[in-house]
Amino acid sequence: MKKVVLAYSGGLDTSCAIKWLEEKGYEVIAFIADVGQREDFQAVKKRALEIGASKVHVVDLQKEFVEQYVFPALRAGAVYEHKYFLATALSRPLIAKHQVMIAHKEKADTIAHGCTGKGNDQVRFEVTARILDPQMEIIAPVRIWEFKTREEEIDYAQKKKIPVDVTKKSPYSVDINLYGRSIECGVLEDPWAEPPEEIYKLTVSPLKAPNDPSYIEIEFFKGIPVKIDGKSYAPLDLIHQLNNIGGQNGIGRVDMVENRLVGIKSREIYENPAATILHAARQELECLVLDRETMHYKEASSQKYGELVYYGLWETPLKRQMDVYFEEIQKEVTGTVRLKLYKGSCVVVGRKSPHSRYKEELATYGEKDVFDQKFAEGFIRLWGMPF
Ligand code: ARG
Repeated sequence: MKKVVLAYSGGLDTSCAIKWLEEKGYEVIAFIADVGQREDFQAVKKRALEIGASKVHVVDLQKEFVEQYVFPALRAGAVYEHKYFLATALSRPLIAKHQVMIAHKEKADTIAHGCTGKGNDQVRFEVTARILDPQMEIIAPVRIWEFKTREEEIDYAQKKKIPVDVTKKSPYSVDINLYGRSIECGVLEDPWAEPPEEIYKLTVSPLKAPNDPSYIEIEFFKGIPVKIDGKSYAPLDLIHQLNNIGGQNGIGRVDMVENRLVGIKSREIYENPAATILHAARQELECLVLDRETMHYKEASSQKYGELVYYGLWETPLKRQMDVYFEEIQKEVTGTVRLKLYKGSCVVVGRKSPHSRYKEELATYGEKDVFDQKFAEGFIRLWGMPF
């Protein structure tokens, strides 16, 4: 029997996929990646075995996710189309990598995932897996199976006694990990329709957020956040802490129409309190410590990095080269940023750094001024001379 390692979420699609692959003659090994989605993994594991998986691997990838994926993207200032902090996109290459590792361990030459043929995630899984193992066979059941609609799929599940809670079925398609939550489908498919409050789970409505602002101070070391309000946190705890405080203040809701890799535009809602706070804070610290030319030049690279992540090109030479570039740039991005969180807004109100290039005695119009204004005349003449 051929073995296949299926990335299993416990949802309808991947549950049907276990049965469907089995009927196609495969021994199915389920792989459950814990990227901080806070599921009852024992229950999910049990479900996979009940449906017919021969074996289940549950692997906690949270620490690796934050340290090797989330932080490098943060350091690079990677944001897709100026709004999406890439929570889902960043998790895919990590999951694919471990899926390939499990396939090797289990001597399986095939992997499978539950993505549809219209999204980005299929690309991210498959491109990553094939870069890591070009011989790997990949099956995407949802792209090829016979069910035309979700109803047909549910019929199949019921016929095959697949224990899936369809009563709890929400009209939305949701992906969640420790760095954020992505919501699509249902009424959200109308880009004119305001998202209903019920879709949000990590953030309170700004209308219901506290009437007093919360102030926090985040300390960065070389572009990586290390402390909140003077207290050191392990990377994972730091993200949780910021998600909590940000969520309570209604921070991190994003409503956008984005350009998918496969060419369609889609309306997406994101909730990412920690990402919103961290990107705002780190970028502000850069403004204090980076020289002007580096700051301006790196902007295009940040955008490119965001595209590479979005496009599933994590395991590529350019992405690796850019990590080196951004690591070098972040050498002096050490310091503290003070933010005010208030009813959905996250505003930097203070910043300091031992590497600050801000010189008050040059900027001031007060008594301490040491800037010699006489030099300005000659500078301006030469600056404009070529024109
Ligand atoms: N559009 C986002 C991306 O491509 C999120 C996709 C999330 N998937 C979902 N089932 N909602 O990264």
